[in-house]
Amino acid sequence: MKQYIIATVAETVRLAEGIYSTTVIAPEIVKFAMPGQFVCVYTDDCAHLLPRPISICDIDRSTGALRLVYRVVGFGTDELSKKGAGASVRLLGPIGTGYESVAEGKERPVRILIGGGIGIPPMLLLAKEWSKAGYEVHAVLGYRNAELFLRDDFAPYATCYIATDDGSVGTHGTVLDAIRAEKLIPSGAEERTLFAACGPMPMLRGIAGAAKELGIPAYISLEERMACGVGACLGCIVKSRETDSHSHVNNKRICTEGPVFEVNQLCL
Ligand SMILES: Cc1cc2nc3c(=O)[nH]c(=O)nc-3n(C[C@H](O)[C@H](O)[C@H](O)COP(=O)(O)OP(=O)(O)OC[C@H]3O[C@@H](n4cnc5c(N)ncnc54)[C@H](O)[C@@H]3O)c2cc1C
Ligand code: FES
Repeated sequence: MKQYIIATVAETVRLAEGIYSTTVIAPEIVKFAMPGQFVCVYTDDCAHLLPRPISICDIDRSTGALRLVYRVVGFGTDELSKKGAGASVRLLGPIGTGYESVAEGKERPVRILIGGGIGIPPMLLLAKEWSKAGYEVHAVLGYRNAELFLRDDFAPYATCYIATDDGSVGTHGTVLDAIRAEKLIPSGAEERTLFAACGPMPMLRGIAGAAKELGIPAYISLEERMACGVGACLGCIVKSRETDSHSHVNNKRICTEGPVFEVNQLCL
């Protein structure tokens, strides 16, 4: 159930060049939060009315702590990165469908989580929950360079594999190159494997193609542009195979029907 709250910042720390982690105390949101969902962060400046969608990176249900990890790209993320302990931030969440819609269950016990760049944060809570549920979790994380933000946070929950654009750590290339180089899907393992991915669109298209070729179900989380964040403006639509019940065209709203989709639902 979505809540609109004013949360207090517990801490903001810099993780890498331009990448920050802000933890807020938000028990009302944490209570209902699921991996794959996001929150809308409102700025303090009333001239910037639209909220900024940021994925839920981690939660602690015992303390109500909610962690957001983001790249500073403009006004809203810059403002958030400057909020230290004790500052207030307006939030709406949790929003969207999470990975609770993944139906394959125990017959797909090998879970390969793939995060590219700022698509890495939402994979952390998923790794935590799926590891707790008893799945064999592998995290394939793609970075620009050796500034491997969040890598150590995955270690308790997943076996990690790294790909970097500049080849400074792990496989030189993309997350798909790392999956091949590490032989993560040996012949016959396709039937036991499931992909979950978040990252830039070219990466997600690559994952969708590989999933189709190998016959592996894949769930992807889209982080495209948004406006209202609550299903009203159609500013976040993605082309879908089926007709949408809302507007009766081949569209899905990322903020409402997503951000997590089974790849075959979409025309990527
Ligand atoms: C479901 C979802 C989850 C996301 N999770 C994360 C995350 O965990 N970490 C992270 O770093 N980024 C994430 N993003 C991207 C993040 O929302 C944008 O980088 C952010 O809104 C930019 O705001 P700004 O004010 O700093 O930039 P500006 O460019 O000043 O933003 C201006 C306007 O454009 C919108 N906008 C700009 N870029 C994006 C974008 N890529 N996606 C959506 N709206 C955008 C803003 O919401 C705002 O309304 C996510 C996006 C979506 C849709
Ligand atoms: S952002 Fe307005 S409908 Fe999704």
